Formats: sequence, C-alpha cells, structure tokens
Amino acid sequence: MLRRWTHSPRLRESSMSASPAPILITGASQRIGLYCAERLLDEGQPVIATFRYERPGHERPGLARLRERGVPTLQADFADEAGILAFIGRLKEHTDRLRAIVHNASEWLGETTPGEATPGEEARIFQRLFNVHMLAPYLINLHCAELLERSSPADIVHIGDDVTRKGSARHIAYSASKAGLDNLTLSFAARLAPRVKVNGIAPALILFKPEDDAEYRARTLAKSALGIEPGAEAVYLGLRYLLDNPYVTGTTLTVNGGRHLK
Ligand SMILES: NC(=O)c1ccc[n+]([C@@H]2O[C@H](COP(=O)([O-])OP(=O)(O)OC[C@H]3O[C@@H](n4cnc5c(N)ncnc54)[C@H](OP(=O)(O)O)[C@@H]3O)[C@@H](O)[C@H]2O)c1
Repeated sequence: MLRRWTHSPRLRESSMSASPAPILITGASQRIGLYCAERLLDEGQPVIATFRYERPGHERPGLARLRERGVPTLQADFADEAGILAFIGRLKEHTDRLRAIVHNASEWLGETTPGEATPGEEARIFQRLFNVHMLAPYLINLHCAELLERSSPADIVHIGDDVTRKGSARHIAYSASKAGLDNLTLSFAARLAPRVKVNGIAPALILFKPEDDAEYRARTLAKSALGIEPGAEAVYLGLRYLLDNPYVTGTTLTVNGGRHLK
C-alpha cells in the first residue's frame, strides 16, 4: 500500500519510524529515473527523488506526478562538492533511514572538436563528469551508509553504461567517469558487506533522446544483437532483481541487448 510522505516536522518524525524506509533515486525528474520511481511507488515502496532544476512557476510534469503521490523532491546539483554536501544535508533532514540508493543522475557531455575548446573547457567537462558520476556517489555512499544500515535489506545501485566495455572516441570523459563509477561498486560492496549490497547496472541504448535523428537511430539499433529500443522497463527489471536478490553484491548487470555479440 502506498503511504504518503509529509513535510510536517512532527508528522515526518512519526512517519520516519512507521513507514517503510524510502529509496533515494537521483536524477528522477524524467526518463529512466522517473520511470523507476513510479514503478517503485506502484509497488508501495516510498521514494525520495532528486532533480537539478525547475524554473520558478513552471513545474516539471514528472516532478508534479511524483509530488502528487507524496514523494519528497529534493533539489540537488552534483556539479561540485559544495552542491553534493548541501544535498546530503537536505536528505538527512527528510529521512533517518534508506532502503536503497539508486545513483542514476548523469550528464551526457562529449568532447569539443580538437582545437576548438575555449581555455579551460576540456578540464571543466572532465571535472564536471567526474563530480556527477563519481564524486557524488562516493560522498553520498560514505555519508549515508548509516542510513542504509538502519534498513534490512539495504542496497546501493550505480547506474553506469555499457560504453565502458570499449570506451568512446566521442565521449572520453563520460566513459572514463562511468568506468570509475563501476569500480566504486567493487570497493563499496566490500566495505559495506554484509549489511548493504552494492551493485551496478550497465545499460546500452534504453531510450533515444527526442532529438536523435532517423540515421542515428538506425545506426544505434544495428549495434545490438536484439536490435530494439527496450524502454526504461529494462532498467527497472534489473533494479528489481538487484533489490530482491539477497546473494548478489559487487556485480554489474549488463542490460545491453547483446551489444557485445556484434
Ligand atoms: N537513456 C539511455 O539509453 C541510457 C543508456 C545508457 C546508460 N544510461 C544511464 O541511465 C541513467 C538514466 O538515463 P536517462 O537517459 O534517463 O538520463 P537523463 O534523461 O539525461 O536524466 C539524467 C538525470 O540526471 C540529472 N542530472 C544531470 N546532471 C546533474 C547534476 N549535475 N546534478 C544532479 N543531477 C543531475 C538530470 O536532472 P534534471 O533533469 O533536473 O536536469 C536528469 O534528470 C543515466 O545514468 C545514464 O547514464 C542511459
């Protein structure tokens, strides 16, 4: 049964002890993160969602849907350490325990054309992707382990990317920082066992972006053996499996339609 969350401090205090511990999903204002949040809510699992931006007076549809269902939506920008630490502080004002953390927030930035970068731009892109994909999960895991340890079972799931198998000529920093995230899975799994399981999901194409043209879509579909755009349910099923299985930790689940076979 879905339990509604409340922002009233007194009621919030009582719900902290009475309701099931929530799952934190970062970057849950749209697409895969939003889909997973809504599927978990459908199953009666409380969720806390983060988003990066919302223009005053222009509520984002995904966030509106989550709020309607009582989900606390916390602003979080993981572009630098200060933003990450500020978010951790806000999170701890909302809950004293967590069933799981799903590190889904991500930026898809590519390298600039050689010779065209403005001064400092390349380093800024690298640093930003490092902060979003590695520093944020690293600090959140370290600072929130105690919240997870108040729940049994408890999980951390890092959403990586299948591109790390081969690297990417056009998204070098993206691929490297997602590979680093995948490595955090191993170390945190060892550190937090046996109370917290820590795993990763490495998706290949899940959802095209609206701006992807027909030629890009055809080329991308042809890269996998199964040749489909599976949609966010494919990631949700992986997440569900990792949450439910008591004997899996320190692994990365590949959800790539058989890309490695071609
Ligand atoms: N879609 C695919 O086919 C695919 C393939 C392989 C891997 N993945 C992985 O699956 C996950 C979800 O993919 P998606 O396509 O749903 O991603 P998406 O649409 O780009 O959403 C990512 C979310 O991350 C948040 N975010 C971005 N930068 C942030 C920052 N600096 N601080 C805090 N939050 C930030 C965004 O929040 P705002 O919207 O509020 O800005 C956004 O909601 C990602 O980890 C991605 O790498 C996806």
